[in-house]
Amino acid sequence: MAGTTQMKRSHVCGELRRSDADREVTLTGWVSSQRDHGGLIFIDLRDRWGITQIVFDPEISKSVIETAKRLRMETVIVVRGKVVARPGKMVNKDLATGEIEVVVTELNVLNESKPVPLAVKDPCEAMDETRLKYRYLDLRRPSMQNNLILRHRTAQCVRSYFDNAGFIEVETPFLMKSTPEGARDYLVPSRIHKGKFYALPQSPQQYKQLLMVSGYDRYFQIVKCFRDEDLRADRQPEFTQIDVEMSFVDEDDVIGVMEKLMVRIFKDILNIELKIPFPRLNYAEALARYGNDRPDLRFDMPISDITELAGTTGFRVFQDTVLSQGRVRGLCLKKRGRMSRKQVDELTDYAKSFGAKGLVVIQVTDEGIQSPVSKFISDEEMQRILKPFDAQVNDIVFLVADSESVCCEALGNLRNYLARMFGMTDNVPFAPLWVLDFPLLEFDPEEKRFVAMHHPFTSPKPEDVSLMDQDPANVRARAYDLVLNGSEIAGGSIRIHRSDMQSKMFRLLGIDEETAARKFGFLIEALDYGAPPHGGIAFGFDRLVMMLAGESSIREVIAFPKTTSALSLMDGCPSEVDAGQLRDLGLKLIG
Ligand code: AMO
Ligand code: AMP
Repeated sequence: MAGTTQMKRSHVCGELRRSDADREVTLTGWVSSQRDHGGLIFIDLRDRWGITQIVFDPEISKSVIETAKRLRMETVIVVRGKVVARPGKMVNKDLATGEIEVVVTELNVLNESKPVPLAVKDPCEAMDETRLKYRYLDLRRPSMQNNLILRHRTAQCVRSYFDNAGFIEVETPFLMKSTPEGARDYLVPSRIHKGKFYALPQSPQQYKQLLMVSGYDRYFQIVKCFRDEDLRADRQPEFTQIDVEMSFVDEDDVIGVMEKLMVRIFKDILNIELKIPFPRLNYAEALARYGNDRPDLRFDMPISDITELAGTTGFRVFQDTVLSQGRVRGLCLKKRGRMSRKQVDELTDYAKSFGAKGLVVIQVTDEGIQSPVSKFISDEEMQRILKPFDAQVNDIVFLVADSESVCCEALGNLRNYLARMFGMTDNVPFAPLWVLDFPLLEFDPEEKRFVAMHHPFTSPKPEDVSLMDQDPANVRARAYDLVLNGSEIAGGSIRIHRSDMQSKMFRLLGIDEETAARKFGFLIEALDYGAPPHGGIAFGFDRLVMMLAGESSIREVIAFPKTTSALSLMDGCPSEVDAGQLRDLGLKLIG
């Protein structure tokens, strides 16, 4: 042990500057690199504030340098020493503390580290599994610390914004009644009431509506939600929402509050000025023009419908599609020149993975049109087909002939794929937009009934209420989504606030009165005691932070995430429980 005095740090590792030269300081932190330069030993000492280079000189203390030589990576130490200004050419411009180093006179090892299974450095080279198993080491990396700090700052910004705008944060229960909203519930068995279960909230939807009935008027909450659903890069079984509800509002009020929140977050966190109002598209336009309801507007490349033109050509596939009420749609990749056979095949396979039967590729070159279908289509017909795309030399048109939904799926995805392939999004950081006028219902072919597209508490548009009985598929909802760079980051609606309409909605969803009363009785009842008109929205907070951090998975902005199969590799959950625990709960495992 070199040095025995109890030492408290005087500074953190990101703090010292040239103006601190000659000071006696005490630093604590983790050994993050060690270099032996002919007698002198240099160590980067790291904590969450930064890195300070500390130097061990044999001339100063033999015993200290002997200990320094044996320090393993990630060992926690405390050092005392003197701040020395580095000569000009030794300054490290990449480091905030790069103008100084600390020449150590005393060293205490606070806790030695075993060899680490994961190098604490950026970029991380470890496998995802290792990162998740040793998450506490992964979280030591500066990039992860920056992500969590950015998440914290965003949450603070959200709280301050809503506080200033007259909203209050109210906590709602995590143990609630199981009232599935779309995904599967996580259930919690009750010990006291055997055979009965709580559910973890998929969102605080019903509570926030009840808070409006209680007159709270403007509510928000940064809140955990739980959904047992198939996971992906932007989905976790537990995730965080910025949940919002307001009374006496219409769509424009909610949208206005959220746009100003976005402006504030982007300004405070990234110093980017977002322009409001954001563009708005209705659902039908979004689908027709971009193939899905969350278009990435960092690039245009719209989809056009050429069914009428294509149907009169000599190409059988087009003729058959038109006869069977399908559509022929396509998009035009501008100014990228010719594609190789291999690229065309790759894109065709990609389109096929979304159900397309093929992909017609028409390349406009300075030697004329190149396409496998040109033998079936006359020059004049070809010119007519290409017109809606304004295709010029060096452009390529891609066409799909299929049902409307397959055209949308295949071309919507192809549009994003081409944009990634050609780096079309590189210079446009953020393109937000609102998608409105969603259908109220969608038909679930498995259950053979309508289900709510957003959730069953969403109000139909007043002008469409008369369609609810005769033509439910065409009723539009007072729902809105906020889309950012091709991802849905928030969704909400104006709610049903009268019990007669809520009951009508349940009937449309095939939920009989008895079931509705059993599952949602408390909400229907509350609507009869002076429920004000109200509406709200919820942001996917993890998705928003992911985008602010420039990451492509929400795992990178969540301290302790689960894998895509909902496992926590660090603590090994879910796990078996003792027989006694099951007995207490009155549960027996089968199989
Ligand atoms: P919705 O179900 O659209 O609406 O959810 C709101 C937002 O939450 C995010 N999100 C998720 N993020 C990560 N992992 C998940 N598994 C996950 N699921 C959803 C999305 C989505 O836009 N109560 C309603 C809101 C309302 O009507 O006010 C609701 O929860 O970014
Ligand atoms: P085929 O006549 O099947 O050899 O197809 C000729 C070209 O049309 C190929 O390039 C196919 O990829 C394409 N193709 C076939 N079916 C479709 C379809 N439904 N939509 C778009 N392209 C198609």
